[in-house]
Amino acid sequence: PDSQQGRLIKLHETTMRLYHHILMNTPAGESARRYLQKRGLTQELIDQFNLGYAPKEEVLKAVLEKEGHDYQLLRRSGLFTEDRSGSLHDRFHDRVMFPLKDGQGRPVAFSGRLLQKNTDAPKYLNSPETPIFNKRRLIFNFDLARKAARENGKLLLFEGYMDVISAYGAGVHNGIASMGTSLTDEQLAMIVKTTNQLNICYDGDAPGQNAIERALKLIEASAVASQLKIRVVQLPTGQDPDEYIQQNGGAKFRDYLKNTEETPTAFRLRYLRQGLNLSNQAELLSYLNAAIGVIAKVGDPVARDLYVQELAREFQVNPQNLQQQLTTQLQKQP
Ligand code: UTP
Ligand code: MN
Ligand code: MN
Ligand code: MN
Ligand code: MN
Repeated sequence: PDSQQGRLIKLHETTMRLYHHILMNTPAGESARRYLQKRGLTQELIDQFNLGYAPKEEVLKAVLEKEGHDYQLLRRSGLFTEDRSGSLHDRFHDRVMFPLKDGQGRPVAFSGRLLQKNTDAPKYLNSPETPIFNKRRLIFNFDLARKAARENGKLLLFEGYMDVISAYGAGVHNGIASMGTSLTDEQLAMIVKTTNQLNICYDGDAPGQNAIERALKLIEASAVASQLKIRVVQLPTGQDPDEYIQQNGGAKFRDYLKNTEETPTAFRLRYLRQGLNLSNQAELLSYLNAAIGVIAKVGDPVARDLYVQELAREFQVNPQNLQQQLTTQLQKQP
């Protein structure tokens, strides 16, 4: 507890309590309170995730010094910027604060969100890496989600913190998110220790779809690929999970998660045909060729056969011809 790491965590706990107090109990926190209310966050969720508010003026240094943390520790905490004279200044100003917690639920960093659109500053600002915060190893909500995963057998990967929090409010407690970056091998190793199924539920926009494809590639190339069953849940166009929940309610969201999960191959077959005009014969032929390429990567011959039959039925082509194309593709593979 007296190690540098222990002291850094203690400093983060104090900071988390301070920001939460400012959000809930002070006039300075009023705009942030209204912001969170407008976004549909209940008091219960705000408390569960220890959300807070970093005010416009500097508050942190005085409080942390009073608690006995020294200059060097404050410097290493990531919560300050340093000016040329070596003086420290609060890093976060006028932002809603999301504590980022480690697997034991201890706060090790923060992400701060702007209350309104601003093209000059990032929407979410994260703590830099510190002795206790490695963003490749941090999974948002891992402490709570791993417990839920023990009961329902899987983790649910979202893009954003707000998706995880809204889903939690909708009774979906196994949601996690990576740190804005794509999924890492370190996070995958942590996931596999917890569960053998991961459902990917990214935003229903083009970047979200592309991110699903990138995540699938990363998982397939990873050392743990064979230990993890992957399913994809694609949201309606333009919505992220949080927006879907605000619009349709938690019960609909839970049904959606249950009823629309598909295999990575089914997702890819749909992904490949986006923007194509399949009533154009040339485009249809090149789609079918690419689709066979995807199906050829499926390990299970029975599943391959099912996909081929489905494809043939859908486009009313002779399944034997598709089968032949598949055989040719399979022979080309190493
Ligand atoms: P999104 O842009 O989808 O944000 O980025 P969001 O989760 O829907 O957030 P709201 O609803 O606008 O509040 C997804 C994730 O990417 C990271 C964050 O982790 C965010 O949750 N991100 C995004 C950043 O780190 N910095 C940014 O400026 C934007
Ligand atoms: Mn509270
Ligand atoms: Mn997004
Ligand atoms: Mn989003
Ligand atoms: Mn959102």
